[in-house]
Amino acid sequence: MGVLPVEEKRVITAQMEELRKQALENPEQFWDEKARALEWFKIWEKVLDDSQKPFFRWFVGGLINASYNCLDKHVKTWRKNKVAIIWEGEGGEIRKYTYRDLFVEVNRVASLLRNFGIREGDRIALYLPMIPELPIFMLAAARIGAIHTVVFSGFSSDSLAKRINDSKARLLVTADGGFRRGKIVPLKEIADKALEQTFSVENVIVVKRAGNPVNMVEGRDFWLHTLLEGVSKNTYIEPVKVDSNHPLFILYTSGTTGSPKGIYHSTGGYLVWVYWTFKWAFNLNDEDIWWCTADIGWITGHSYVVYGPLMHGLTTLMYEGALDYPAPDRVWSIIEKHGVTGFYTSPTAIRMFMRYGKNWVELHDLSSLRILGSVGEPINPEAWEWYFNIVGKGKCPIIDTWWQTETGGFMISPAAGIQLLPLKPGSATIPLPGVEADVYTEDGEPAPPGTQGYLVIKKPWPGMLLGVWGDPKRYIETYWSRFPNCYYPGDYAMRDEDGYFWILGRADEVLKVAAHRIGTMEIESALVSHPAVAEAAVIGKPDPIKGEVPVAFVVLREGYVPSLKLEEELLNLVSETIGPIAKPANIFFVHKLPKTRSGKIMRRVLKAIVKGEESLGDLSTIEDASAIEELKSLVGV
Ligand code: PRX
Repeated sequence: MGVLPVEEKRVITAQMEELRKQALENPEQFWDEKARALEWFKIWEKVLDDSQKPFFRWFVGGLINASYNCLDKHVKTWRKNKVAIIWEGEGGEIRKYTYRDLFVEVNRVASLLRNFGIREGDRIALYLPMIPELPIFMLAAARIGAIHTVVFSGFSSDSLAKRINDSKARLLVTADGGFRRGKIVPLKEIADKALEQTFSVENVIVVKRAGNPVNMVEGRDFWLHTLLEGVSKNTYIEPVKVDSNHPLFILYTSGTTGSPKGIYHSTGGYLVWVYWTFKWAFNLNDEDIWWCTADIGWITGHSYVVYGPLMHGLTTLMYEGALDYPAPDRVWSIIEKHGVTGFYTSPTAIRMFMRYGKNWVELHDLSSLRILGSVGEPINPEAWEWYFNIVGKGKCPIIDTWWQTETGGFMISPAAGIQLLPLKPGSATIPLPGVEADVYTEDGEPAPPGTQGYLVIKKPWPGMLLGVWGDPKRYIETYWSRFPNCYYPGDYAMRDEDGYFWILGRADEVLKVAAHRIGTMEIESALVSHPAVAEAAVIGKPDPIKGEVPVAFVVLREGYVPSLKLEEELLNLVSETIGPIAKPANIFFVHKLPKTRSGKIMRRVLKAIVKGEESLGDLSTIEDASAIEELKSLVGV
């Protein structure tokens, strides 16, 4: 076990213990103090309102603005000339924005949004690649109190349409195209297809990025650069003083049903949480260059590419393309070129770099690095050790952060900003202050140390989701019904004798494919929408690089026979309905799926077969055991 050489080997210092104690025993007083690190237009009347459980509300009555806390706050100080965003395009071009530059652009774009009639509470959808216009539009929306919903630019037109329809976005912002491994992804064309299935979007703003031809609908679609020609660099839009619980954004994420959930976050509580968790976990300061490799289309990008670093006045790096394009050392060359000091990525990326080998790393001087982070899925000890020794040269702590779209920010993570406990590869260590986590058995009893159970969070925290957009019932059912009075994240976990948490993977029908969250039901409903498919079951198969990959079992309707052509059609259908990241690695055509007598598909049996496990577990409830033999022979075990 690689244990970090930390000066203090005592398990928990008095300072850490004190902070954790205060936060849990007297949360209102604790957060009342902490929240003042941000700039508020009006201080709250109540820190936590728990009168409508589980709809907890933080900093009630407070007035705040996210764009003000990321920009105006710094522009008033010496930081106005500090670089806020370093952007590197896939082709190697570099753009830098100082806090002042960003402030100017955000104000100009905010005035455009106003001209399109966008007002406080309206939703705007952002379907953009990793270019600076994406954070600029997010901050411009926040400035005028509009709610942004960013849609990952790898998603298909159907996925985009679903999100626009659910959020009833009035405006869509996209680009002509985005670059991915040297090829152009025609985003505007995909957006046009999505718009055929939507009714709420009145206008489309298009950023010119890739230069590919696009179709512009007169009176509906506008080029950003043309619109900006008429907007002065002195434009100032007063930030709207929104209520602390005014939604800052909606971000769709996969759950256990066919349609993604619109997770929406507050402004005040979310910002306070992101501010403190970032500081506690990574402890960065003005000299740091921070690079979080996540796409802004996911929560990691929202909280730790945009809001966290900018609230702290840091320099945040954004990279447009794939980390291994055009060569496997692209990632290391970016760190060297820009002197990155804090680097945060996923275990999938680390495993990919590991496979390319350490020679690619050693071509570059990575001595600027001082802290490393991991997120999105469990990190296996081999990948942890490689990251620690080869990338960090044994000098940089690895901050393995467990959290979710719903939690807004880190929940369980080493805390370099408070006290770094000895690290254990594969464990996110202990909860951050204000997080009361536990591991429960099936029956809701605390699980003994060393045994697997379900992770639960026993107290509300400021960064928690406000709810599921338009579906309060789903919020209660998904997160607050599994165990009484506990938030249920849907993860398996284990706590060891030292009180360290080990996150062991999803306990529900959700996959983590290359750290991306994908619902098996989403893939299944895409498959059954094909006329040939009667039934489909999707499970996750362990994969040495991606953590897991989807594998599909399909029962065809009468009159259809399996063929390579049909397989390809089904794969394309998944790609078109969700996005290429959801494509199954294999499709097995079967006559029957293993089901219980009450008709439920036994996914655990499918999973055990795919993993080649000897024991398939309890089969006493199976309706027809003959299904098993066919599956075994098909899968080749
Ligand atoms: O299963 C956990 C896994 O990712 C899930 C949340 O996915 P998403 O909402 O897409 O957010 C990803 C980025 C925060 C969790 O329920 N997960 C996330 N971080 C870790 C992790 N599993 C193990 N270790 C982690 N550090």
